Amino acid sequence: VTIIITGAGGQLGTALKKQLSKKTQSRIIALNRNDLDITDEQAVKECFKKYQPRYIINTAAYNAVDEAEIYREHAFRVNFAAVETMAKECRKYSTKMIHFSTDYVFDGKKKTPYQEEDACFPLSVYGKTKLASEEIIKENGIDYLILRISWLFSDVSTNFVRKILAQLKKDAFITVVDDQKGCPTAAESVSEVVTLLINNHPTVNGIFHYSDLPVTNWFDFAKEIQQRLNENNEISTKDIRPIKSTELMTKAPRPHNSVLDCSKIKKLLGIEQADWREKLAFVNETIGILEL
Ligand SMILES: NC(=O)c1ccc[n+]([C@@H]2O[C@H](COP(=O)([O-])OP(=O)(O)OC[C@H]3O[C@@H](n4cnc5c(N)ncnc54)[C@H](OP(=O)(O)O)[C@@H]3O)[C@@H](O)[C@H]2O)c1
Repeated sequence: VTIIITGAGGQLGTALKKQLSKKTQSRIIALNRNDLDITDEQAVKECFKKYQPRYIINTAAYNAVDEAEIYREHAFRVNFAAVETMAKECRKYSTKMIHFSTDYVFDGKKKTPYQEEDACFPLSVYGKTKLASEEIIKENGIDYLILRISWLFSDVSTNFVRKILAQLKKDAFITVVDDQKGCPTAAESVSEVVTLLINNHPTVNGIFHYSDLPVTNWFDFAKEIQQRLNENNEISTKDIRPIKSTELMTKAPRPHNSVLDCSKIKKLLGIEQADWREKLAFVNETIGILEL
């Protein structure tokens, strides 16, 4: 079985490449942006023709939530149009598509965790592009899995953990919003879920939610990250101050509650959600090598 991973240089792509090579017998073709630009229709077609994969795992995406408000067309090209191209090729070659969406498809007005069938009202361009990608996959009549995940982090690429570490290193004190509730999720946890889906449930289709636990907010998450730093590191005691979303004024609005109800995937796989706090061990290594 051949499995293609797109965006293989990113957080999830890196984690998946590692997990799947270890835990499946499949041939893993991990393609980073230089190997395959998913917006290049011809290149995507050639790639399918060459490998005729059983699975394509699309982790390539335009994830800059605020910049997407300005570079709207580009965001749609990467997050939607390219997904449509790949879905059409999947139909041609009977390839199953594994794709990732986001908690930002929801508006955050619900008081309890979001279930898969809850109505989507994305607040941002990014959220809209990801919702559009879900719809185009479903419409194409192919085998698919869409995992909606939240607040992804790992020791590579761009993410909140690395941003907080860089800011702590640079600034006298930092401010972080405390009025957006959600669940950080390690790329490693998501790649374990995908591995189980491929190995144990090859015929299952549909949308699933997955996040790690516990529920937190960005301010408390930042404090947890700081607490993982060695005590002798001078930035382990720098001040982190809570602020409100209205004070921060980001270009893209974000949901106040984006906690995902993960019962459906837990039941299918017979797993518990991982604890993201146990996945932060890399911070001490990362802080040393972070470029400012
Ligand atoms: N990050 C989050 O908090 C989060 C939350 C919920 C859902 N998700 C979803 O989870 C998935 C994986 O996200 P991630 O955090 O692993 O992303 P990531 O670290 O940003 O990785 C995405 C990769 O895709 C590459 N890429 C961008 N445009 C491309 C193109 N046209 N062709 C090929 N590759 C391209 C990027 O390359 P460059 O670095 O060179 O641009 C990057 O290596 C995405 O679908 C994302 O929407 C992420």
